[in-house]
Amino acid sequence: MQLTNAVIYPGTFDPITKGHMDILRRASKIFATVIIAVAKDTVKNTLFSLEERVEIVEAEIKNHNLQNVKVLPFEGLLIDFAKQLDVYTIVRGLRAVSDFEYEFQLAYMNHKMHRKIETIFFPATEDSHYISSRFVKEVARLGGNIDDFVSVYVQRRLKECLKN
Ligand code: COA
Repeated sequence: MQLTNAVIYPGTFDPITKGHMDILRRASKIFATVIIAVAKDTVKNTLFSLEERVEIVEAEIKNHNLQNVKVLPFEGLLIDFAKQLDVYTIVRGLRAVSDFEYEFQLAYMNHKMHRKIETIFFPATEDSHYISSRFVKEVARLGGNIDDFVSVYVQRRLKECLKN
């Protein structure tokens, strides 16, 4: 059994929200290194390209001065990426009971496919448990206020993207 100081925080991050940033900040206080793994292969039809999603996450990390957080894109299965990095602990946020079933399945599938993989869950705070990238995009598209959900930088990127 190998002890690790590094964890992977995977997701689509389309775009990264204040909810994701909350999980990231908390994880970065506990673990020496947090690797944000931005997925290319996701069932979601993304608004931002993989390169844009990585770029936005990188800017957010810089703006928050999170020095022990790295961003990497990945393609294919998460477990294969974990093997490549030799990091087997996954971090995910849990917002509500509705997340539980999906997250439980994801964690168990990954563990079943590779026994070394373990998933650690962080409960979302009361300020962010209702945030979802999908709703943020919908509100932005319809001209609503998304100040509480994403940073000023992400708001600007959303505006530019939706204009095109
Ligand atoms: N606060 C607020 N919102 C949060 C949150 C938090 N703490 N944590 C998650 N969310 C929201 C996100 O905004 C997002 O909302 P959306 O569904 O409206 O877009 C949703 O919860 C989850 O998105 P995200 O955190 O980006 O993760 P994901 O579920 O899209 O990521 C992967 C899934 C990428 C980890 C998974 O598909 C994967 O590993 N893919 C690679 C291929 C693979 O290995 N597949 C086999 C899986 S068994």
